Amino acid sequence: MLELGVNIDHVATLRQARGGAEPGILCAVKECEKAGCDSIVAHLREDRRHINDLDIEAIKSIVATRFNLEMSINEEIVEIARKIRPDQATLVPEKRQELTTEGGLRVNGNEQKIRKVAERLKEKGVRVSLFIDPDEHEVNAVKRTGVKIIEIHTGRYSDAGAERVADMEFQKIKKACDIALDIGLTVNAGHGLNYTNVKRVAGIKGINELNIGHSIISRAIFTGLDRAVREMKALMGHE
Ligand code: PXP
Repeated sequence: MLELGVNIDHVATLRQARGGAEPGILCAVKECEKAGCDSIVAHLREDRRHINDLDIEAIKSIVATRFNLEMSINEEIVEIARKIRPDQATLVPEKRQELTTEGGLRVNGNEQKIRKVAERLKEKGVRVSLFIDPDEHEVNAVKRTGVKIIEIHTGRYSDAGAERVADMEFQKIKKACDIALDIGLTVNAGHGLNYTNVKRVAGIKGINELNIGHSIISRAIFTGLDRAVREMKALMGHE
């Protein structure tokens, strides 16, 4: 059954607006899990703009499902991940100025560097996933790193606007997924997915997990987190 990882970064974004303790990250973890999410995702960015070091320690200590830490391959962050030992680390590119992760990791041409980071994480019992664009060369490059899990970037499909462009981007995701499955990778997907565009991606055969944040946290303002998570799971085929 297709799984749902809920990215709770923007619960922390709201907290940072006042710099206090509300809304509580751990309450969000508990609500998402009670509603049936399959993993909790959080991105410890180098600039700590939302999730911070204490958050990831606290998440790790209470998570009942799985903790998927999104992170760059920055040395300081890698050392923190080795210490915290989340269930999984998803390696993403990171630029200070960006509003959110803008594209996939450049694996092709950087295999050695990524392999080394992945091995240091695996040494500590952390599963590793690479966030990549839906591109055949990137999928094949993942194989050369020894990493067995990918997350396909669905951002361009989600942001497409025009139907023709969305169709084209969707086909790229589907093709990348098929190639990855053929070479034995576990395939996840995420970025920009919402209550309108998720069904099509959820329908791709062989995808293991979708990671969704902004749209769920946004809906939660109106419905509460419990209902927002349940509604997303229902759209993913869990009715
Ligand atoms: N997957 C990855 C690798 C991401 O970087 C993000 C955003 O932090 C997400 C999924 C969730 O994206 P969104 O918040 O647009 O649902």
